[in-house]
Amino acid sequence: MIERTHSYEISAAHVLSHPSLSDAENRALYGKCANPGGHGHNYGIEVTVGGRVDDRSGQLVAAGLLDQIFDERIRQRFASRLLNDDVAFGDLVPTAENIAVVVHADLAAEIAQRTTAHLVRVRVVETRRNSSTIGAPE
Ligand code: NI
Repeated sequence: MIERTHSYEISAAHVLSHPSLSDAENRALYGKCANPGGHGHNYGIEVTVGGRVDDRSGQLVAAGLLDQIFDERIRQRFASRLLNDDVAFGDLVPTAENIAVVVHADLAAEIAQRTTAHLVRVRVVETRRNSSTIGAPE
């Protein structure tokens, strides 16, 4: 199998807090990200697809199609938004881990439906010091 990775960036805001915890507990868990006013990140989102290379195009998936899928499914939904307002984060704290889970679940189905490739992994880079990666089960 061969892989291809596209890197995207979207700006979005979040508040990390769990409703069942006190302010002090949330601050202990999430640090500055628990600030109730929310704050933004420029999230890097790396999308890796895999599969067989098309004999004619020499590509796994047309670059424009992957970009289009990302724009339709992820950018339009999350960019410049407060992630906590999205239905996916109604019961999920929008940590980098959970953002990766939500993006992966959405793109996996869409890529399978619209291309001959499959989603291998999604990496969400929240800051220069932390990122979270989710891959398909082995
Ligand atoms: Ni944060």
